[in-house]
Amino acid sequence: MKGIVLAGGSGTRLGPLTRATSKQLLPVYDKPMVYHPLTLLMLAGIREILIISTPRDVPPLQELLGDGSWLGMQISYATQSNPNGIAEALIIGAPFVGNDSIGLVLGDNLFYGAGLGTQMKSAIASTQGAVLFGHRVNDPQRYGIAELGGDGRLLNIEEKPTQPKSNLAVTGLYFYSNDALDIARSLKPSARGELEITDVNRSYARQGRAQIVQLGRGMTWLDMGTPDALLEATHFVATLQRRQGQYVACPEEVAWRMGFIDLQQLSALAHALGNSQYGSYLTSLVNEHGLA
Ligand code: DAU
Repeated sequence: MKGIVLAGGSGTRLGPLTRATSKQLLPVYDKPMVYHPLTLLMLAGIREILIISTPRDVPPLQELLGDGSWLGMQISYATQSNPNGIAEALIIGAPFVGNDSIGLVLGDNLFYGAGLGTQMKSAIASTQGAVLFGHRVNDPQRYGIAELGGDGRLLNIEEKPTQPKSNLAVTGLYFYSNDALDIARSLKPSARGELEITDVNRSYARQGRAQIVQLGRGMTWLDMGTPDALLEATHFVATLQRRQGQYVACPEEVAWRMGFIDLQQLSALAHALGNSQYGSYLTSLVNEHGLA
């Protein structure tokens, strides 16, 4: 499976913060936002990832993440010249994906909770079509909303419905079989002029090939696209980290825990971060696990 992080868009809802920089590079407490979707795909076991962003923002993202070799991964980049819709990521990413299946995540989504890695891995193992993740929200008008049959089967999804049929939002994490690329190519822009990911998902649902995994109340899902949402995400990460002394969305740690790099490599990364709080955290991991 290949991973795609869609980290473009104009970020207008965060202006003027995004006038000179990418939304996905903004800090969520002590890390850039893009660390969240990146580590999510890593936790699913994906090591080859394409980051898609605007022509302006690819260079700084590349400066941050490089070719991924420091994490035992391969990270490449592609540009989306205009925010033509989330499904365009599947068209732009097609040469990178080749014949593989796809894990797509939106650059401003944060997921946190026990068992997420396991849930993603079992979703990947069963990807004959689309595996979507649903989470309850209070403001369903802002999201893609799922309609389920009595048996829990996914009947339909509506994008930002004025009269939502449920409170179950479709989150920005999608696992697809390879034919998502063809489905994306066949889409027509919606009334708002975008290639909608919801139309890709509906196409799978119509064929009876879409499954929705409902994330329970023990799972946190946040998006970070407005000043308030960004502040809330920042508080969430800071609260957890200060209370537990364990970092959220730390790519170096995830790479090591997933076996992409060894303790020696983690130690070198810790050293390079010097005496920052972040560097000290990595050093404490190394020390705890045996390399002084
Ligand atoms: O967060 C989950 C929701 O994401 C889903 O429930 C919706 O079905 C889905 O359409 C999407 O809704 P949003 O209104 O949040 O999408 P937004 O336009 O804000 O885009 C989400 C991220 O994707 C954002 O970080 C910018 C990036 N993006 C978006 C578009 C449309 C791109 O990089 N390129 C694009 O063309």
